[in-house]
Amino acid sequence: MSVCGNMKVFICCWIIFIMSCCTLSWAQVPVDCCLSVKNKTIPSHMIVSHRRQFSGQGCAIDATILLTRRGRNLCVPAHEPWVKQLSARVDQRNTCTKHGVSERRRCKQRVNNSVKELL
Ligand SMILES: *[C@@H]1O[C@H](CO)[C@@H](O)[C@H](O)[C@H]1NC(C)=O
Ligand SMILES: *[C@@H]1O[C@H](CO)[C@@H](O)[C@H](O)[C@H]1NC(C)=O
Repeated sequence: MSVCGNMKVFICCWIIFIMSCCTLSWAQVPVDCCLSVKNKTIPSHMIVSHRRQFSGQGCAIDATILLTRRGRNLCVPAHEPWVKQLSARVDQRNTCTKHGVSERRRCKQRVNNSVKELL
C-alpha cells in the first residue's frame, strides 16, 4: 500500500471517529435537561407530576423537574426538603385518587404522616 492510500484510510477513520463521537454525545443529551435550578417553593396543587434528572446521565446537574398544571417544566433542587416533600405529596396524591372514596381519606391521612416525616 502506498503512503497516500494509508493516509486516506486514516483520514476516513478519523472522520468516522469524530462523527460517531458527535452522534453519541448528541444522543446522550436529552433535549429537556435542566441547566439550572430555582429554589422557589411551589404549592403542591400546582404540580401534576415530577421526575428526577441525574448528573452524569446526560445532564450536567442533579435536579427534580416539576410539571405544572399549565404544562410548564420547573427545575428545582432535588435535595431540598421541600422538594422531597412535594414529590412525595404528588406521588401519593396520584395513588390516592385511584382508591374509592372511603379509602381516599385514609390514604390522604397516610400521605400526611409520611410527608411530615420527610421534613
Ligand atoms: C430553599 O428554600 C427553602 C424554602 O424556602 C429554604 O428553607 C432553603 O434554605 C433554601 N435553600 C437554599 C440553598 O437557598
Ligand atoms: C395534614 O396535616 C395538616 C397539619 O400538619 C392538617 O392541617 C391537614 O388537615 C392534614 N390533612 C389531612 C388530609 O389529614
